[in-house]
Amino acid sequence: MPSVKRTHHRRPLSAKASVSGDLLVWYDVNRRELAWRAKAGERCDPYRVWLSEIMLQQTTVAAIAPYYRAFLQRWPSVKHLAGASQDEVLGAWAGLGYYSRARNLHRAANVVVKEWGAAFPTNSAELRTLPGIGAYTAAAIASIAFSERVAAMDANAERVVARLFAVEEPLPKVRARLAALATPLVPEQRPGDFAQALMDLGSMICVPKRPRCGGCPLAAHCKGRAMGIAEDLPRKVAKAARPLKRGAAFVALDAKGAVYLVRRAEEGLLGAMLQPPLGPWTEKFPKLSVAVEEAPFIGDWVKKPGFVRHGFTHFQLEMEVYVARFRRRPNGEGRWFAAEEMATAALPTVMKKVIAHALDEHAPLLARLSSPARPAR
Ligand code: ADE
Repeated sequence: MPSVKRTHHRRPLSAKASVSGDLLVWYDVNRRELAWRAKAGERCDPYRVWLSEIMLQQTTVAAIAPYYRAFLQRWPSVKHLAGASQDEVLGAWAGLGYYSRARNLHRAANVVVKEWGAAFPTNSAELRTLPGIGAYTAAAIASIAFSERVAAMDANAERVVARLFAVEEPLPKVRARLAALATPLVPEQRPGDFAQALMDLGSMICVPKRPRCGGCPLAAHCKGRAMGIAEDLPRKVAKAARPLKRGAAFVALDAKGAVYLVRRAEEGLLGAMLQPPLGPWTEKFPKLSVAVEEAPFIGDWVKKPGFVRHGFTHFQLEMEVYVARFRRRPNGEGRWFAAEEMATAALPTVMKKVIAHALDEHAPLLARLSSPARPAR
């Protein structure tokens, strides 16, 4: 029988080609349908990709979905967004957390309009010059929207690569090495799909606990699996315990239930967001007599039973809530917000919790306080 030369149905020879090839074959069947992803044959809109990537920093796909829709409907292009006020953007972002992202989003929209003629820069180096865009986000936008051959290393991609190459050095130090290992895997064709395939693999198969290696398109390439250590990777340097801070919050109400709110400093934690006046945060709750010295107005301040707890990235916060009613509105640096204004006000979730705690008897106002999304941060 003459020998048949097989020129097809063969696995590509290099490991590089087969990792990306196997991953993309899997992605074409299993990819998540997400609002910002282009359909087959369509081009990605860089504005949508950028908006989704900024929202997805530190936040899950499920949590951003209603916010992403609301933003696009209200501001369908970067020009529309640049034309909004910062406070409108913060109000629409309220509940998503990490509010510097919203301030930088608005700043970047203005830079794109004023300095780039309303067209996003088309490569990762120039994208990085925009406010709020770091190495990961620049690589994600450049690969997804502009097909640049760069590795977008988010936590999912880092986990997949650490397992694939059985990298045992801990994060965060090993980050640069993981990116260096991933870069040669990025294909010339479809680098954006490769980036998103890594993300999808990391969120559906190569999950942190009990990875589903049986269904993994990269199982045959995976050193971590071969060594039986995949689930233990990536290793991480143990984090310090989050300290606990405590303080008092002051919810002043007028006769109609309007709430007195002040704006936080522009930079730093919850920058430029609204809140009821707060006392300082220390180790212990202050006594009532000490707490009320920090109240915005002299009044009959009553402490509500219990306290509000909220977790930030670097600490935990507990606040006792003091309430006082004023028949005539005292004036201060802040502003009185009517109940109807609460839904769109730039109130972070922790402050919504404080107000809700103060108003436990005011169900209609409470209903207005909830954000457009489900699980708020
Ligand atoms: N996380 C960050 N960017 C993402 C994307 N484009 N698709 C899925 N998950 C993501």
